[in-house]
Amino acid sequence: MGTPSNVKLLDENGIRLDGRGPQELRPIRLRTDVLERADGSAMIEWGGNKIIVAVYGPREAYPKHTQDIEKAVIKARYNMAAFSVDERKRPGPDRRSVEISKVISEALTAAVMVELFPRTQIDVFIEVAQADAGTRIASLTAASVALANAGIPMRDFVVGCTVGKVEGKVVLDLSKEEDNFGQADLPVAVLAKTGEVVLIQMDGDLSKEEFNEGMSMIMTATARIHEIQRTALSEKYKEMDMGGAE
Ligand code: CDP
Repeated sequence: MGTPSNVKLLDENGIRLDGRGPQELRPIRLRTDVLERADGSAMIEWGGNKIIVAVYGPREAYPKHTQDIEKAVIKARYNMAAFSVDERKRPGPDRRSVEISKVISEALTAAVMVELFPRTQIDVFIEVAQADAGTRIASLTAASVALANAGIPMRDFVVGCTVGKVEGKVVLDLSKEEDNFGQADLPVAVLAKTGEVVLIQMDGDLSKEEFNEGMSMIMTATARIHEIQRTALSEKYKEMDMGGAE
């Protein structure tokens, strides 16, 4: 993060490098049932991000010492393919993916009715095939839909978005260049119905006013993204009505 003088992220009218206004989202496409062998699955394309999520469970937690006698344990594993980024990523977990897996597991635990399935685990495998900034919130948004697609009882959906600061302005849904060269990056995920914040991380600096402005942009955006989640799930039932899916 930090703006080298040769990268101009906003033009004189406040328009961003990819042509968006400050409050505009990148295009989002979300589909369910993309994998045959998972209990539930989803694929999200968000800007240049392409992410597949597979859900298995609830099944008996293993190894046994990981069991919780009161609830299901959600084990999310976020993985970036070697070819998902400009510079080949070394395969396997690193500090960043371990951290993202942890914050995603925690956020999803707030939405799933984990108390219904003591001693079990629910696996959420997240495979980032192409990364373009905002993968953690795109993964969470898709994971929530994959869990619902697996028929796992949930009290709410998790839906995420980022805001950030570029050239002194608060903007929604950072692109890769804005993430790299901007002044702040604030990924947030909320529960769709209640607005409860279940993930919030910050890189860089925002004033209190900028933070509040960003949070209000996030709340408006997540309501729209939640509509995309609902549509993705209802598309499946439309297909079933027409005899297009089993
Ligand atoms: O993806 P997200 O914004 O949640 O996390 P980040 O750590 O802020 O990473 C921002 C972006 O940097 C990612 O989405 C990737 O496009 C890129 N990145 C990369 O090019 N190489 C890595 N090893 C990790 C991230």
